[in-house]
Amino acid sequence: MNKIKAAITGVEAYLPPYVLTNEEISKMVDTSDEWIMSRIGIKERRILREEGLATSDMGAEAVLKLLKKTNTLPEEIDLLICATVTPDMQFPATANVISDKVGIKNAFSFDVNAGCSGFLFALSVATKYVESGSHKKVILVGAEKMSSIVDYTDRATCPIFGDGAGAVLLEPDTSGNGIIDSILHSDGVGRKHLHQKAGGSMRPSSLETVNNREHFIYQEGQPVFKWAVTCMADVAVEMMEKHNITPEDLSWLVPHQANMRIIEATANRMKLDKSKVMINIQRYGNTTAATLPLCLWEWEKELKKGDKIILAAFGAGFTWGATYLKWAYDPV
Ligand code: UT7
Repeated sequence: MNKIKAAITGVEAYLPPYVLTNEEISKMVDTSDEWIMSRIGIKERRILREEGLATSDMGAEAVLKLLKKTNTLPEEIDLLICATVTPDMQFPATANVISDKVGIKNAFSFDVNAGCSGFLFALSVATKYVESGSHKKVILVGAEKMSSIVDYTDRATCPIFGDGAGAVLLEPDTSGNGIIDSILHSDGVGRKHLHQKAGGSMRPSSLETVNNREHFIYQEGQPVFKWAVTCMADVAVEMMEKHNITPEDLSWLVPHQANMRIIEATANRMKLDKSKVMINIQRYGNTTAATLPLCLWEWEKELKKGDKIILAAFGAGFTWGATYLKWAYDPV
């Protein structure tokens, strides 16, 4: 019998219904559909507009759908991890709130904050619990209400981000499929280029921080772009070389959806045909920790048992990494 691996055995998602188009953004700031499409590759993104709804509400919707789809009872879940940079509150963890909203009572739960690499970082943590044999049914959620921290007067950032949530179930697998390897990195030197200035212990919220618009995303696009292109491609290629995976062998690349040009550069470095790259940035934008599960969810019907898949991401921190997995089930 093979060693226990952690395998994804189901995936679901929730996207809020409101569609924010480039045309509508062009009425808010000095930009155009042409600029956004050519520089970023986004046509529209979803926004959670209802007053009082938060990241946990989208995460809970995705988890409820996942439990139903996989015939799993909430009581059977023994760990839930939520990757997010837009928690409902500074504390408690959004994972605790999601668990409560869906009736998960026998699990411990916590958040992971690794920017746009959050899903990959959380996946590697969840994998260890399953591989050790201590946990049998683990849910991993990537959920973001990015619209709560986007400055809709800043044309450099407001076209980029969107809201949404994706969730996967991880279970033990001894067939040889499942999560094979993760290579993860972080370098805090990059924090100056991408962060939220106020609201933390360094600069607590005050009238001044609100007036200075310091609770929104601060991003210096160009350095982030340069780091992202280099790091995401390097780590994805390193993963291919480490496991002797040729471009022909690889079934799919699941890249973080931050910028079409970054996705294309990564695929080119991997010598991968674009038909093997999951891309939905044009419809959902950058949903930070939710981009990877949203891709898996949209492509689930095309995935076959044994498919070799590399996930790759880059984000605030800086953080980046790649995960190699063999898909564990055929389409149902
Ligand atoms: O997921 C987390 C990681 N984040 C990323 O991976 C984001 C990485 N960075 C990027 O994707 C790109 O840097 C951006 C999409 C953010 C910006 O694209 P860029 O090609 O790097 O543009 P830029 O910032 O160098 O700006 C070029 C010009 C500037 O005008 P001038 O100074 O040349 O006159 C900007 O003011 O484009 C202008 N500009 C815009 N023009 C129309 C910036 N935003 C806009 C806009 N519409 N929305």
